[in-house]
Amino acid sequence: RDSKVNQNLLESHSFINYKENLKNVDIVRKRLGRPLTYAEKILYGHLDKPHDQEITRGVSYLKLRPDRVACQDATAQMAILQFMSAGLPEVAKPVTVHCDHLIQAQIGGEKDLARAIDLNKEVYDFLATATAKYNMGFWKPGSGIIHQIVLENYAFPGALIIGTDSHTPNAGGLGQLAIGVGGADAVDVMSDLPWELKAPKILGVKLTGRMNGWTSPKDIILKLAGITTVKGGTGKIVEYFGEGVDTFSATGMGTICNMGAEIGATTSVFPFNKSMVEYLDATGRDKIAEFAKVYQGDLLSADKDCEYDEVIELDLNTLEPYVNGPFTPDLATPISKMKEVAVKNDWPLEVKVGLIGSCTNSSYEDMSRAASIVKDAATHGLKAKSIFTVTPGSEQIRATIERDGQLETFKEFGGIVLANACGPCIGQWDRRDIKKGDKNTIVSSYNRNFTSRNDGNPQTHAFVASPELVTAFAIAGDLRFNPLTDTLKGADGKEFKLKPPFGDGLPTRGYDKGNNTYQAPPANRDSVDVKIAPSSDRLQKLAPFKPWDGKDALDMPILIKSLGKTTTDHISMAGPWLKYRGHLENISNNYMIGAINAENKKANSIRNVYTGEYKGVPDTARDYRDQGVKWVVIGDENFGEGSSREHAALEPRFLGGFAIITRSFARIHETNLKKQGLLPLNFKNPADYEKINPTDKIDIVGLKDFAPAKNLTMIVHPENGASWDCELTHTFNKEQIEWFKYGSALNKIKSGGK
Ligand code: F3S
Repeated sequence: RDSKVNQNLLESHSFINYKENLKNVDIVRKRLGRPLTYAEKILYGHLDKPHDQEITRGVSYLKLRPDRVACQDATAQMAILQFMSAGLPEVAKPVTVHCDHLIQAQIGGEKDLARAIDLNKEVYDFLATATAKYNMGFWKPGSGIIHQIVLENYAFPGALIIGTDSHTPNAGGLGQLAIGVGGADAVDVMSDLPWELKAPKILGVKLTGRMNGWTSPKDIILKLAGITTVKGGTGKIVEYFGEGVDTFSATGMGTICNMGAEIGATTSVFPFNKSMVEYLDATGRDKIAEFAKVYQGDLLSADKDCEYDEVIELDLNTLEPYVNGPFTPDLATPISKMKEVAVKNDWPLEVKVGLIGSCTNSSYEDMSRAASIVKDAATHGLKAKSIFTVTPGSEQIRATIERDGQLETFKEFGGIVLANACGPCIGQWDRRDIKKGDKNTIVSSYNRNFTSRNDGNPQTHAFVASPELVTAFAIAGDLRFNPLTDTLKGADGKEFKLKPPFGDGLPTRGYDKGNNTYQAPPANRDSVDVKIAPSSDRLQKLAPFKPWDGKDALDMPILIKSLGKTTTDHISMAGPWLKYRGHLENISNNYMIGAINAENKKANSIRNVYTGEYKGVPDTARDYRDQGVKWVVIGDENFGEGSSREHAALEPRFLGGFAIITRSFARIHETNLKKQGLLPLNFKNPADYEKINPTDKIDIVGLKDFAPAKNLTMIVHPENGASWDCELTHTFNKEQIEWFKYGSALNKIKSGGK
């Protein structure tokens, strides 16, 4: 039990802490006086202060110490830039960065990859040098999709990791809690701050029986999404249990956990079991498997009689394959009903494209089972009717299925093998078979199918299903096809039924690692220069924000009083702006351009109170800042809901904002604002929101005595009329007040204090 076992084969400095985790679990179990679920054990095993931490599921905020961080290339840019501005010599916890999101699918693997390397050179150069400088692992473009690589190399039972991507929970397939977060959270862990998470409720899913025929693990989560809807998992961890959990592979469990994101779950997890041992063995990590077995009874399984907040039971014996969509992943239709439902809803019946792969479904098993169907069709002289694309999840998968023949099978079938990357899953798809606006159907083995996600065409009806079913649809070319009951006509004119898919869960000859796409941090990191071209419009070094000047803020204009819902998309729009994620100055040109100005009910049109001129929000903010004028924003309920995008907090700070005053905040956005040294404040009396006029000027006083739970005062000076004042509440704790005083959380770290 005292062994020192490495977390993985690539790092010599990171070890598994089962002993410490178990100690913490015992402390918490004693305090709570009740048995714990497996997910609770992992969480509480990673508490910063297990003795004092308040723990009520669904209520308290846990301060946690995750084992590691994984970042994808789009979100890593700002996270690393922020980390750099803290002035620390290296990351406090193991971190890896994965180049997978920026590769556009056009004609096929190698050429697409070469084009992406050229197009994104400055981003890749920055990430390669910054990771080397600050002691992080770097996975080059072409290495594969973040979650597949994490599963193959870094995931281990009982671990707690965070990742700057929503499908990080994929690693739950190896019995760990893997949680998707925003860049600001990643920076916390990189800088050795505890990471905060609202104690999730636990949704138990009991699996009974065993799947058969065409049913696959994907169908478990597709069915579950239909039951819970896209919101059903919010604030919850999905914990699977029951005899059914031992009937499929670790990668199959990964698929199920991956798509837990589609029901809004914090994450999903399976208890440590035999399939995980087999997968760890197959990926060269037998020592970890042995070590985990030692802790299986007390740490890596749920306590007997533990209680879930709710339980859903699924019988795998009777589970059918599902097709979910279009436009939402929770519109679940069993294959037996698809014909009728598709016709009734007037969904386009011709399947234009079938796409297999993505982080959800690109395991060796997925590829083998899909290839078995293709082979069967080929024996009857059939090829794909639809366009058929294959995205291997990693270089290791690509090389292995090339060696074992599945890749060739797909190519002979007419399949296009794309680069080992996200590609069409994230809209990186130069689709040419239809025109934008054409109504059409595609079926993928991916996870998300919101409007326009794959190809930017709002008329594309995207469905998600298992890779096996996608392949069957690509053969038939028709959404009404049910391979369980329907026949196809072979080249010889004879009718035949496709055989149910089969294939190895793991390669019998072991994995072929393929090309080496990993860059370990060098031993001597002092001489590494982080590459950021001064002329770059995609990357820019962050300058530290100025500390608070010690005075009350007086006579501040209201930049905008925003009307109604103001989400992070209104505050910092996505789409084309994502290109500037690593360039604060450029991305700040989208600040609040989606919010509606209460004065004229228009978006991105506000009056400069000094000149009377109407301009866009970012322009006006910049004008104020350049004149040395601090400003505030007035907002309504749940301000900043949506994603955890840290740009929504960095931008107002960069543009000279001082306080954001609302009826209420979405919590993550509120914390992000605090981290950047802004003041998120609430009207004590929500009705005061109505009394504020966009042309009023604002004083915030009482800052010298700024303290937890002590209200601040706002004095409002209307353009014409008498001044009035009101109280503002806040949720700052002592440490967060320091962030405000220092100018940001990172400034505080830089000063030597945590
Ligand atoms: Fe990439 Fe799509 Fe997964 S964008 S990380 S393949 S969800």
